[in-house]
Amino acid sequence: MSITIDFSGKTVVVIGGTSGINRGIAELFASHGARVAVASRSEEKVADTVSALKALGAEAKGFAADVRELPAIEAGLAEIHGAWGEFDVLVSGAAGNFPASLNGMSANAFRSVVEIDLMGTVHVMKASHAYLKKPGASVVNISAPQAFLPMPGQSHVSAAKAGVDMITRTLAIEWGAEGIRVNSVVPGPISGTEGMARLAPTEDAIGKVAASVPLGRLGTPDDIGHACMFLASDMGAYVSGAVLPVDGGWAQSGCGGMGMFLGKLVAQMEGR
Ligand code: NAP
Ligand code: COA
Repeated sequence: MSITIDFSGKTVVVIGGTSGINRGIAELFASHGARVAVASRSEEKVADTVSALKALGAEAKGFAADVRELPAIEAGLAEIHGAWGEFDVLVSGAAGNFPASLNGMSANAFRSVVEIDLMGTVHVMKASHAYLKKPGASVVNISAPQAFLPMPGQSHVSAAKAGVDMITRTLAIEWGAEGIRVNSVVPGPISGTEGMARLAPTEDAIGKVAASVPLGRLGTPDDIGHACMFLASDMGAYVSGAVLPVDGGWAQSGCGGMGMFLGKLVAQMEGR
């Protein structure tokens, strides 16, 4: 079997692909020949990302939609399918997060994160299934270490991302017979991202997190993109239902005590 990481002629859709890690993933696929579509809430971020993808020499499209709105996601994906045909790769990574204890957030605050991360994934899976290449499509859901490691201030994210990983594992079975592979990638702490800015808001905190990673550094969006490309390429042809940490070993070390650190940060923010 010849192995290729050339995505020429392939259609890649990245939901939540207009900033941070997911935009890095979109750009990596674009620079390896794929035509790439991105979606997120902000028209401006979508337009900016589409321009950047085109500047990399890729065909690119985008649409603005909130993953909490199933009809909007359905309409956007139908348009991409109408223009380009079946999707070879779908990356679903739209998410929201803020550090707050369960007592320190309203039920609606908890619901917002569950609606974006978990129900958003449900909507993206349901809206895309008809358009995924059968056999051959590869779906990657972007999870988080909170899915399996509890951290104070992250009950909403833990509940939502644990659900995302169980959707991954269930769909690997339900969609496997159609030749669709479904996996989760679990990023560790990734430098220069909104997620890191929210959970490690100072240089000191970032330094402590980096030092707590067994490989001794923060990750980059490319680190996550490379894992997605592996899963989406022929090299990943027999991988389905995996929940793959890409984190320099961070989760194995209990995320370096991130839970204790976050507990103190949240208590300080909430005046306790
Ligand atoms: P980010 O830059 O804020 O990216 C989030 C993306 O999702 C943006 O494109 C955002 O664009 C979009 N989005 C947010 N809410 C949305 C909604 N309701 N509907 C549609 N799109 C929405 O964050 P990031 O830190 O790079 O995180 C990216 C992914 O990696 C997330 O799934 C996160 O849980 C995961 N992760 C991150 C880290 C980290 O270190 N950063 C670690 C582990 C896991 P709009 O604002 O335009 O909607
Ligand atoms: N602490 C406690 N509650 C908070 C909060 C915080 N830091 N930030 C928001 N909330 C609450 C709000 O008060 C609101 O609850 P209420 O209606 O009971 O007052 C609820 O969360 C929803 O907030 P709202 O701003 O209306 O939601 P939104 O849909 O506009 O935005 C968020 C969703 C809150 C997740 C927002 O942070 C977001 O858009 N994030 C996307 C980017 C991101 O988080 N990137 C990192 C990914 S890892």
